[in-house]
Amino acid sequence: MAATTTTTASSGASMPVVDPAQMRDVLGHFATGVVAITGLDADSGAPTGLAANSFTSVSLDPPLVAFCVARTSTSWPRLRAVGEYTVNILSGGQEHVCRQLSARGDEKFRGLSWNPSPCGAPVLDECLAWMEAELEVEHPAGDHTIVVSRLRHLHASDLAPLVFFRGAYGGVAHSTIQE
Ligand SMILES: Cc1cc2nc3c(=O)[nH]c(=O)nc-3n(C[C@H](O)[C@H](O)[C@H](O)COP(=O)(O)O)c2cc1C
Repeated sequence: MAATTTTTASSGASMPVVDPAQMRDVLGHFATGVVAITGLDADSGAPTGLAANSFTSVSLDPPLVAFCVARTSTSWPRLRAVGEYTVNILSGGQEHVCRQLSARGDEKFRGLSWNPSPCGAPVLDECLAWMEAELEVEHPAGDHTIVVSRLRHLHASDLAPLVFFRGAYGGVAHSTIQE
């Protein structure tokens, strides 16, 4: 496969230019799971959240995880204002949950069932695993913010995961999961 790198002569030096569409396409070849980051709005008490695939484990001691949020997100400022939320790892049957939480507006939780975590943040029914977390620190990173969170409670089931790969949803056959 041919690499398509453009060059520019700014500052007299030849600088590689990464096309955003190409970056999105190439990075889409990295298969990920999907999480739903959910919390309660400070003013209304209504559930809110977003879907994210930029989630990763960071540190065991202290117990830290991270995800990246677009600076344009309207739901992150609402979650951030409370500073505690749930990270739900979505299961194979939750593609509709991902689609709903990634759409803007007030319909994100329409028809979704959930129970409160110890701090009251939504734990989505049928999620593969969940973690209650509090905001530790944010790092600006281009058009996103790297959000580092400290875990307080966590729980896992033996359901199969929702997988996101090249812009499409898939799963992992149960027989391929090591018990
Ligand atoms: C599979 C998938 C993964 C996503 N991952 C991220 C992510 O890592 N970070 C992010 O800011 N938005 C991500 N989004 C987009 C958000 O879910 C959401 O669309 C965005 O935050 C706009 O909604 P909001 O204004 O309610 O926050 C993802 C969407 C999908 C469908």
